[in-house]
Amino acid sequence: MTDLGFDGRVAVVTGAGGGLGREYARLLASRGARVVVNDTGGSTAGEGVDQGPAESVAREIRDEGGEAWADTNSVATPEGGQAVIRSALDAYGRVDIVVNNAGILCDAPFHDMTAELLEPVFDVHLKGAFFVTRPAWNVMREQGYGRVVNTISAAGVLGTANKSNYGAAKAGLVGLTRVLAAEGTTHGIKVNAVAPIALTRMLTQSLTKPEATKAGAEQRADPTRNAMTVERMTSFVDRLDPALVAPAVAYLAHEECPVSGEMYTVGAGHVARYFIGRTNGYFNPDLSMEDVRDHFAEIREESGYTVPRGSGEEISQLFRAASG
Ligand SMILES: NC(=O)c1ccc[n+]([C@@H]2O[C@H](COP(=O)([O-])OP(=O)(O)OC[C@H]3O[C@@H](n4cnc5c(N)ncnc54)[C@H](O)[C@@H]3O)[C@@H](O)[C@H]2O)c1
Repeated sequence: MTDLGFDGRVAVVTGAGGGLGREYARLLASRGARVVVNDTGGSTAGEGVDQGPAESVAREIRDEGGEAWADTNSVATPEGGQAVIRSALDAYGRVDIVVNNAGILCDAPFHDMTAELLEPVFDVHLKGAFFVTRPAWNVMREQGYGRVVNTISAAGVLGTANKSNYGAAKAGLVGLTRVLAAEGTTHGIKVNAVAPIALTRMLTQSLTKPEATKAGAEQRADPTRNAMTVERMTSFVDRLDPALVAPAVAYLAHEECPVSGEMYTVGAGHVARYFIGRTNGYFNPDLSMEDVRDHFAEIREESGYTVPRGSGEEISQLFRAASG
């Protein structure tokens, strides 16, 4: 088997001035991609701007023999997203790969969540992916080829306390991923999503800050909280090298990527797939509320589930069930 390369490809990696994005950019560049290293260089909460991180990663890539261009536009506005893609076109004349990775955290328990904490998180994660991918999409459609990798999170797919803003934005990216996958099919564009687990400043903040707050105390008292405690997690974090997430992202960004519209969870060298399953369910043409109560176990029964590839496939399943 030959090694996988990106010769001739141009990749845009947002939020690549550190953490996971830096590893994605370095791996893509080491395999021959020309890479736009985008990052505003602010704090974990998105405050401030600093050209340093994007420039330093671009320099690091060039020092390692790769090709990279630093870009410090914010993904959080339509103009910023356009400017990021314009950087790729001006520097390298094309764009084949977009990795939407930029992110911030503004955690709070839901009873303290405000519009001021919601909006910046939506702007960077959900709208940011939209604003960057939208101008790239035109280029990809014209060239009949593209790869988009969105960054989702267990917080959005499975749920995590104190992250209603972040979880909602990440779940929005699941929808964006699946809709773009459907639209990209006839244009050679594949769109997938990765939920990373890696020791970065963002995970460090998630692990430490809530424990110092009232929300953290509520979390610890919550019996539904994941059994993996912060203490146990702390002894495990050394294995959560962000470089071990990059191979999965790079494969989904490669020409050989065999799938579109899918979600993968990746951390510590482990790669697994999240999927949306549909139970066989219960059918009654005269359905009443009591029927739902009486057949709830059957409705929830997981054996024999299916994994519809799109909403059309689900409608077909419903037609079949309703036609007996
Ligand atoms: N680390 C984890 O375990 C984990 C888990 C789930 C999801 N994620 C996601 O992975 C992605 C990368 O996070 P990370 O853990 O490497 O954290 P990180 O804080 O190191 O990286 C995020 C980067 O995004 C940049 N950024 C923020 N706002 C931006 C904007 N408007 N425009 C451009 N760049 C901007 C930041 O400056 C930062 O360098 C994020 O989307 C995050 O939500 C991380």
